[in-house]
Amino acid sequence: MAKKKKNKKQEKPKVRDVKDLKPDTELYEKTIETLKEIYKEGKYAWTDPDEEVFEGIATTAPGISASTYGEITMTGVSTILAKFQSAFHDPNAVFYDLGCGLGRMVNQVALLSNVKRSVGVELCPNRLAAARNLAESLSFPAAQPEFLEGDFLEQDYSDATIVYIDNTMYNQEVTTKLLSILPPDCIFIYQSGWMSDHVPSFPVETTYNQAYGKKEGHDRLFNYLSTHCAWRPVKGFEF
Ligand SMILES: C[S@@+](CC[C@H](N)C(=O)[O-])C[C@H]1O[C@@H](n2cnc3c(N)ncnc32)[C@H](O)[C@@H]1O
Repeated sequence: MAKKKKNKKQEKPKVRDVKDLKPDTELYEKTIETLKEIYKEGKYAWTDPDEEVFEGIATTAPGISASTYGEITMTGVSTILAKFQSAFHDPNAVFYDLGCGLGRMVNQVALLSNVKRSVGVELCPNRLAAARNLAESLSFPAAQPEFLEGDFLEQDYSDATIVYIDNTMYNQEVTTKLLSILPPDCIFIYQSGWMSDHVPSFPVETTYNQAYGKKEGHDRLFNYLSTHCAWRPVKGFEF
């Protein structure tokens, strides 16, 4: 008689459940402390640009540098984590921030989600160094943030499942190029500017739009551009 194969119980991968971050636990306290560290230097709207590396990069208008800096805030990142909760909860998820600046979003995602990888891509060496230093000074319960130096149009995104870009300085051509190099099932989240009424979008706080309403004239107009993020699966929506 043929021997029956033992039905070995498949070990499920251990998933860190961020919902387990209950107040009055050590993990909760540690997480809050790390969040404070990530944002302790205050808000950055603009920092010293590293102009040479951005020379010749086409933006929304002549005279506007691709190095222009603004940030998504802690609240803004939380909005995105909550909106795409199941995607960020997946232990096989891989997140990229294209043009990650000082790396705060990459760090917050690594801290408050289950992603396997949280990766920032940045062209400016100074910002990249700051992002790496920040991440190395902190400890993360699961994925350790990773940073890649280079142009975000020239990276390999074959494992990407969620991609964020603050594309405020870029025109539609860049979005089109990115959609052609990202995996079809990847969720693509971007600043929708004037297009917010025509595509699925939601309000997201950034250091640009925090100032919205406080300033008059051009600044006020500029700040309005960054009030919403749009999103789509790279392959488009199925209706
Ligand atoms: C507006 S900031 C956004 C920073 C960060 N993603 C956030 O939302 O907090 C845009 C960043 O993209 C970087 N950047 C601009 N063009 C880039 C490119 N082609 N490749 C990589 N990084 C780029 C800039 O240096 C800057 O740090």
